[in-house]
Amino acid sequence: MALLISGGTVVGPTGTHRADVLVEGETIAALFAPGRAPDGDHETIDATGKYVIPGGIDAHTHMELPFGGTNASDTFETGTRAAAYGGTTTIIDFAVQRTGEVVQDGLTAWHVKAEGNCHVDYAFHMILGGVDDDALKAMDQLVADEGISSFKLFMAYPGVFYSDDGQILRAMQRARENGAMIMMHAENGIAIDVLVRQALARGDTDPIHHGLTRPEALEAEATHRAIRLAEVARDCPLYIVHLSASQALEQVAAARDAGRNVFAETCPQYLYLTLEDQLGAPGFEGAKWVCSTPLRSKHESHHRDLWQGLRSNDLAVVSTDHCPFCFKDQKELGLGDFSKIPNGIGGVEHRVDLLYQGVVDGKLTLERWVETIATTPARMFGLYPRKGVLAPGSDADIVVYDPAGRTSIGVGTHHMNMDHSAYEGYEIAGRVDAVLSRGTVLLSDGTYHGRRGHGRFLRRGLSTYLS
Ligand code: URP
Ligand code: ZN
Ligand code: ZN
Ligand code: ZN
Repeated sequence: MALLISGGTVVGPTGTHRADVLVEGETIAALFAPGRAPDGDHETIDATGKYVIPGGIDAHTHMELPFGGTNASDTFETGTRAAAYGGTTTIIDFAVQRTGEVVQDGLTAWHVKAEGNCHVDYAFHMILGGVDDDALKAMDQLVADEGISSFKLFMAYPGVFYSDDGQILRAMQRARENGAMIMMHAENGIAIDVLVRQALARGDTDPIHHGLTRPEALEAEATHRAIRLAEVARDCPLYIVHLSASQALEQVAAARDAGRNVFAETCPQYLYLTLEDQLGAPGFEGAKWVCSTPLRSKHESHHRDLWQGLRSNDLAVVSTDHCPFCFKDQKELGLGDFSKIPNGIGGVEHRVDLLYQGVVDGKLTLERWVETIATTPARMFGLYPRKGVLAPGSDADIVVYDPAGRTSIGVGTHHMNMDHSAYEGYEIAGRVDAVLSRGTVLLSDGTYHGRRGHGRFLRRGLSTYLS
């Protein structure tokens, strides 16, 4: 059965035009000038007055991640369902090799968690918790055979995921050979651990000290070091994850101005929330917003600079780093010691809406909105043109977005498995109206039709975003 999305305004990175989108089976069959689609046996979704955009791609999620002595509270089932509600039809989650573990065993464990449980399509990056000869060989195998073409390394979290500069350099050299992308958590974790111990020794145990012990300078320093190491690895492609601070952005911008294959993402929390207002909330409340990199000070220009970075493409992608923990029993593990609060914020459901506010506020064009939430993540991580674009032959992952609608964000209305919301009380312009994944309607007229098991694993190719 075919389906026609008629009367809408199709938005892509290169332009906006009125068109009717014909879906046949799992893919887009054709786009027609308004009203010019041939008559036929098809259902219709009326998109008059609405935007028709490629389904969102969230390139940074952590469903069920074991972290900080507990597990991220969204399973692949609940997290991908929430993603679908919010207009995200593909996630790229991080499979984990823990230190000492065989890389392929870590990957298998992630397949077991996800397979048959997802509401939308999913792919994996691989976290390397230890770079040694076996892990380097495994990188080649994952790129060649497993559809995994990006590897995350950590300059933070000593004793957990941390890699030293020698390990990072070796992984970058390998990636330069096999075509993979190195993703970097860029914070100087060794120096941070000193500051954390000093703060606790002083009795500074509240959540705000999580942010104060992870200063901007240590994000900028690590970002700089990662960029220089990638240079030594003969311009290995480098993608800085969850960039939060102006000075780190300056490092990325300088590398890009020099023509380097350096890219970065930011996340909605760094565009909207602050050290003082959220992390510094009274009592233990701020634990809800403990994440790394941390929220930055409202007395500096981070928000303005990050929005500007999105405009200039020094920030190419917006992901969520969705890593939810409930306040009760999970965030509470850090009562009396901020360093024991599990790190992470949930937001997979809200990224498309929160970034649309950039359009409403005149900070982003419609085209740039779609590019940062869908098209560039697809190109960056080897999913394009199957995903990230509305074109004949592409998967029919489509969102009908109503600019006249309103969205209320809060624990009472969201679908993530969290007992609080990082954006509680936000009343914002725009609304996800209908969602299709590979031609299947997941959401329409306020009713959810998706199901667990619909989502399939996506084998990714190499990035097609490199210069
Ligand atoms: O606080 C965060 N970001 N938690 C998730 C793990 C990571 O470093 O991305
Ligand atoms: Zn990270
Ligand atoms: Zn600053
Ligand atoms: Zn993350």
